[in-house]
Amino acid sequence: MEPDQPRPHTPLVVYRTQYGHAQSYAEWLAEDLGAMLVNLGDKPDPDLSTASVVILVCPIYARSYYGAKEFSLLVENHPDIPLVGASVGASDPENPENIQAYKALIKATFSEGIQSRMQWFHLRGGLDYPRMSHAHRAMMWMVSRAAKRKGAKGDAESQMMYETYGQVIDFRDRSTIEPIVEYVRGLSSRPDPAP
Ligand SMILES: Cc1cc2nc3c(=O)[nH]c(=O)nc-3n(C[C@H](O)[C@H](O)[C@H](O)COP(=O)(O)O)c2cc1C
Repeated sequence: MEPDQPRPHTPLVVYRTQYGHAQSYAEWLAEDLGAMLVNLGDKPDPDLSTASVVILVCPIYARSYYGAKEFSLLVENHPDIPLVGASVGASDPENPENIQAYKALIKATFSEGIQSRMQWFHLRGGLDYPRMSHAHRAMMWMVSRAAKRKGAKGDAESQMMYETYGQVIDFRDRSTIEPIVEYVRGLSSRPDPAP
């Protein structure tokens, strides 16, 4: 491309992470979509004028989306750019109870303006207890106590959560990004900047 020609629009993947699960999904998405990749934890200032779509990959911590604030600040003044969200949690995204919880969280977290142009997907990360901070391990201890009680009443996901406390569980699965890749490829592209 000539140096003074405008750059074509490309997708932008932004993410936050504590233990790398969301980062893996963000990297896979960037690779499959030929997207720019930005870690919101680095306090970046990406140029959104060339973004065809902004895809947020955010882990769930104690029922909040890690990176939501930075993402909202980044996109709030760009109402013409389509948005995609991909949450990454330890909970099973196929479980209807969890899907309801993700929806409630989206409603509580993002402004209506952002919600209205955001398509969501839900991915499964993992729990890496040996690498966890003391604070996180302590929080998960409380979660595992509650999970034990729910598990005893027949909830299989809770039982698994309780039984795997302290171990490494990794649900990352590259094939689960396929619907996101398909959705982003199907978006009608923003007109490229005029030469
Ligand atoms: C302290 C703590 C709280 C968590 N809270 C939730 C939660 O509310 N819902 C959920 O689905 N997963 C929860 N998780 C699991 C994380 O979302 C999961 O470990 C995810 O893969 C983390 O991604 P990351 O490694 O990119 O930070 C929690 C994990 C920790 C350590």
